[in-house]
Amino acid sequence: RQQKREEGVNLLELASRFFRERLALGGGRQAREYLERRGLSQEIIRDFGVGYAEDEWESLKRYLLEQGISEAVQVEYGLLVHREETGRTYDRFRDRVVFPIRDWKGRTIAFGGRVLGDAKPKYLNSPETPVFHKGRELYGLFEARQANRQLSRVLVVEGYMDVVALAQFGIRNACATLGTALTNDHLQRLFRLVDEVVFCFDGDNAGRQAARRSLQTALPSMIDGRQVRFLFLPEGEDPDTLVRQEGQEAFENRITCASPLSEFLFEQAAEGRDLKQVEGRERFVTAVLDALKHLPEGVLKSLLLKELSVRSGIEPSQFADWFEKHAVPAP
Ligand code: CTP
Ligand code: MN
Ligand code: MN
Ligand code: MN
Ligand code: MN
Repeated sequence: RQQKREEGVNLLELASRFFRERLALGGGRQAREYLERRGLSQEIIRDFGVGYAEDEWESLKRYLLEQGISEAVQVEYGLLVHREETGRTYDRFRDRVVFPIRDWKGRTIAFGGRVLGDAKPKYLNSPETPVFHKGRELYGLFEARQANRQLSRVLVVEGYMDVVALAQFGIRNACATLGTALTNDHLQRLFRLVDEVVFCFDGDNAGRQAARRSLQTALPSMIDGRQVRFLFLPEGEDPDTLVRQEGQEAFENRITCASPLSEFLFEQAAEGRDLKQVEGRERFVTAVLDALKHLPEGVLKSLLLKELSVRSGIEPSQFADWFEKHAVPAP
């Protein structure tokens, strides 16, 4: 198993170096221009190991074969696509800017590739492989740990470009899920490292939906001492576009002012409800309780119940009855 990992990592490291070299060569000019248009500095391109996969069907494949790496292994680690119908194999990443995804030790375990224009899909990721499990890895976490002697807070954003742009502007503690929703695994990984996680998704419907889902995912992890906050961006912006407009200090102020979980939770429960009416308040209270039943026992839960009691005028003892009737089934 360990040997397998070494083999895969070796091969992916070779591929990563190959992509970096291609970016620097003549064939990489359009990619270099693209990165320049997106405002990426040489330094940040180097720190994140950004490369380029040429517009060729068998360029990486041929290189790796020369290095003695079989097609089967290249397929296994997601670098080659295997067409069942024809039996042929070809490079998965073609004419894309390539971001290496690194594990906690800095070993390349997968890639994300972006088209230079508007073609679809915009991003292409490595498939699940023996060393890459999307629902567990976070892009940029290794680089964040490298850049900070002691990390106390991590920012979770949506995309590669968000992580890289923030880093370029001095905000070097961002990481991104890889085109999947935040999982419990992600969160456990983060809370082993830091006490505070700030979610900062795009200022659009998908981003707000991701925030609501992340709140649900975070609730069972909220043991005392941990903090989760939510930073909402102006409509149409993502961390990349915003930090470029505003700069580091303004963006850091936004982080400082991000909503604590409690605030977002009450806001969510109140949304679309008329709290001047009994029925609206009833829905508000049950929505809050429905969230709180997923929260571990502790100071945070007690304080939230107290707050709910103040806001609703309901005696806390009545909440206990509700919890009894709506117990969460054991996992
Ligand atoms: N994503 C993906 N596949 C897609 C689109 C998106 O895996 N077809 C993932 C990528 O990790 C991407 C993230 O979702 O970085 C966020 O998507 P989006 O906000 O649409 O892209 P941006 O990161 O803003 O990309 P860019 O700024 O390069 O346009
Ligand atoms: Mn988005
Ligand atoms: Mn973007
Ligand atoms: Mn975006
Ligand atoms: Mn529920």
